[in-house]
Amino acid sequence: MFQDEIRTVVRSTYGRLPSGAGRSMAARLYSEDQLGDLPDEAVDWSLGVGNPVAHAALGPGDHVVDLGCGGGIDSILAARAVGPTGRVTGVDTLAEMCERTRKAAEAAGVAEWCEAAHGEMEDLPLPDDSVDVVISNGVVNLSPRKSRALAEAARVLRPGGRLCISDFVVSDNLPPEVLTSGAAWAGCIAGALSEEVLAKKLANSGFTNVELGERIPFSIDDVAVYPLFDDEVIRLMKRVVPESEQRQIATCVIAKAEHPG
Ligand SMILES: C[S@@+](CC[C@H](N)C(=O)[O-])C[C@H]1O[C@@H](n2cnc3c(N)ncnc32)[C@H](O)[C@@H]1O
Repeated sequence: MFQDEIRTVVRSTYGRLPSGAGRSMAARLYSEDQLGDLPDEAVDWSLGVGNPVAHAALGPGDHVVDLGCGGGIDSILAARAVGPTGRVTGVDTLAEMCERTRKAAEAAGVAEWCEAAHGEMEDLPLPDDSVDVVISNGVVNLSPRKSRALAEAARVLRPGGRLCISDFVVSDNLPPEVLTSGAAWAGCIAGALSEEVLAKKLANSGFTNVELGERIPFSIDDVAVYPLFDDEVIRLMKRVVPESEQRQIATCVIAKAEHPG
């Protein structure tokens, strides 16, 4: 698919999702403690594939950027971890997602140090060397320009800053019908990289100590829970993906890396 087609399908898919769509996936990804304490709207809009805040070792005073903050679930968890001496900036390409993050931050009582900025991960609205940690959950895969998005993450991190993102990785042999499906792109599968390529792109973007870990397998039935996949694309995947691979069509990994400056 061409970059513009991908951008359009991603924006239009996320722009027309029904509210409450993310609740069932959130129950799988987050602990009861994390969920119990979150505003309903942040949980309803949870659309990620992992739980990056659980792995990011955030500390009081950190400035965190959440690429593709969506309804704000990870931004709020990060804001609680960094406290009022820190700062969280969620960035999302959709103004309505930014608004949801702001409202959820308000409801969670963290709005003073948790903001949302309208922008693209490929062109972050932040100065160089300005943040301590970049987090992201199911977003880098949506970019048709992943190297550019990772280079932007490196640009805004201060020397010694860290990246901790969760995203799907896939095997190299997804059928072409899946790779060219707009719904599979919006669902983070068609745009996913292999582990090897993800690690290489991080290294090429200037990151060191790249580590990929905590692998969670997702079957076709698991990904069907996301509102991003309609019945048609689920049927397509069941038809064209070899049966032996249907139980692990994608794997969520936590990718960690450091920015040496
Ligand atoms: C799979 S959802 C994940 C949302 C959130 N991280 C979560 O875990 O619930 C992807 C989000 O990335 C946003 N997004 C897609 N492309 C983007 C881009 N190029 N720059 C910034 N945000 C983007 C979408 O609008 C959507 O809110």
